Amino acid sequence: TVEALQALVLQTLDKQNVIENSKDLKLNDQPVEQLALLGALNSLKSKDMVDYTSIDREAWTLTAEGQQLADQGSHEARVFDAVPAGEEGIAMADVLSRLGDAAKIGQGKAFKNKWLSKKGSNLVRLVDSIVDQTQLDLKQVQTEGTLQDAKVLTDLKKRKLVEKQKITSFNVVKGPEFSLEIKKEATDITYEMLQSGEWKNASFKKYNFDAAGLPPNGGHLHPLMKVRQEFREIFFEMGFEEMPTNCFAESSFWNFDALFQPQQHPARDAHDTFFLKDPATTDRFPRELMEKIKNTHENGGDTGSIGYNYKWKEDDAGKMLLRTHTTAVSSYMLYKLAEQTKAQGFFKPAKYFSIDRVFRNESVDATHLAEFHQIEGVIADKNLTLGNLIGFMDVFFKKMGMDKIRFKPTYNPYTEPSMEIFSYHEGLKKWVEIGNSGLFRPEMLGPLGLPSDVRVVAWGLGLERPTMVKYGINNIRDLLGHKVNISMIKEYPVCRLDKKMGKELIGLSQ
Ligand code: PHE
Repeated sequence: TVEALQALVLQTLDKQNVIENSKDLKLNDQPVEQLALLGALNSLKSKDMVDYTSIDREAWTLTAEGQQLADQGSHEARVFDAVPAGEEGIAMADVLSRLGDAAKIGQGKAFKNKWLSKKGSNLVRLVDSIVDQTQLDLKQVQTEGTLQDAKVLTDLKKRKLVEKQKITSFNVVKGPEFSLEIKKEATDITYEMLQSGEWKNASFKKYNFDAAGLPPNGGHLHPLMKVRQEFREIFFEMGFEEMPTNCFAESSFWNFDALFQPQQHPARDAHDTFFLKDPATTDRFPRELMEKIKNTHENGGDTGSIGYNYKWKEDDAGKMLLRTHTTAVSSYMLYKLAEQTKAQGFFKPAKYFSIDRVFRNESVDATHLAEFHQIEGVIADKNLTLGNLIGFMDVFFKKMGMDKIRFKPTYNPYTEPSMEIFSYHEGLKKWVEIGNSGLFRPEMLGPLGLPSDVRVVAWGLGLERPTMVKYGINNIRDLLGHKVNISMIKEYPVCRLDKKMGKELIGLSQ
């Protein structure tokens, strides 16, 4: 036991001040197991009672069979012992059945040693007594770790009775706190110790700076937020500024009208959008901008477009809702950019991004939730083209480890041209949709008041899909909502998007 070993070490040190080599230590006449000793030494060392250094050496040790022969004698000696003295001897078959298979090997050796010979089917002794040199050799290897006669040693090795091993033992000296008695060490100072004054004499366990420590019980980031942080880094790396998306409630004005989405558009139906009851409406949007947007919807305004040719209603624009996309914030930010441009008298290119929550009145299933997160990017600069958008997408997605990107024309009310973004899914061996993008239409940018040569490219994708891929979650309801397992949030590791992850990531879509 550890206690017995510790006592042995302390008593030996007390007597002789140092243990030159722990291989010589004996407990109840048995050599001490060095690995067990190490445990005892470490515990004493942590209390500064002893100190030690390791001694590494190579030594010969007995194999399991070698150990058996050292204990019971060699096969040949055992066969010899099985044969009684006298002319008669004993039937060979008897010896074999008594000693088993090993008797065959032993018998051969005993013939070679001229200890026994055959007489008919019997074995008879040729000598009165023998010396079992093999057993003696093995016992010597056991105690000394080697033999003088290298030839014998090689022979034992060939017979798989001994093998060479690295053996570590220890040189042990007294430590500053050496004593024969092991004091119990306190781990913490307690109320009782303070009250009784016991703390003054108590000896405290040393602080272990290598211990892993308890996992913190405080807050933990949701997996979605961990993945969001990774995407955030990509945007920051590329010089983007984060948009303020902390307000989920929005007016139809910014969510739809400012994006040139006609008021009778199906997306504005209560089937697709959550409208607010309280407050149900607002009129807090810039009046001048509102007039321009109204005109653009009705007849194109100053944009050169003919508009949608319907009667635009302020009441519809005033309806409050939970934003259906983060593009609602993008439209507001571009308006702010236009205002700033007018105020400072020159246009400064801008790169915005946001990663935040959006809401759609959809039926919930394994891959759809009524609330989810969008990743959105917006770049405003003079004379941007579709080529810029495609080129930029290539760089952006490469940073996420996706190098096979394709585009397909699509329709959005606020972009022209518009492109769905596809990425090749190595696992599924097919192209999957990962997002939507385009150049904002003149009908959208015109009313906002940006200089006429400023073009704005933008794109949006989902955050849930890459997160599910990253953390191996198959049902979106295990990720978000009331069925989420809280310990999952606590235990999932931080997110690092590597190239490999990017390849799988392409299951993401909005
Ligand atoms: N707002 C779009 C959506 O929710 C995504 C998008 C953003 C498309 C920007 C084009 C430009 O689907």
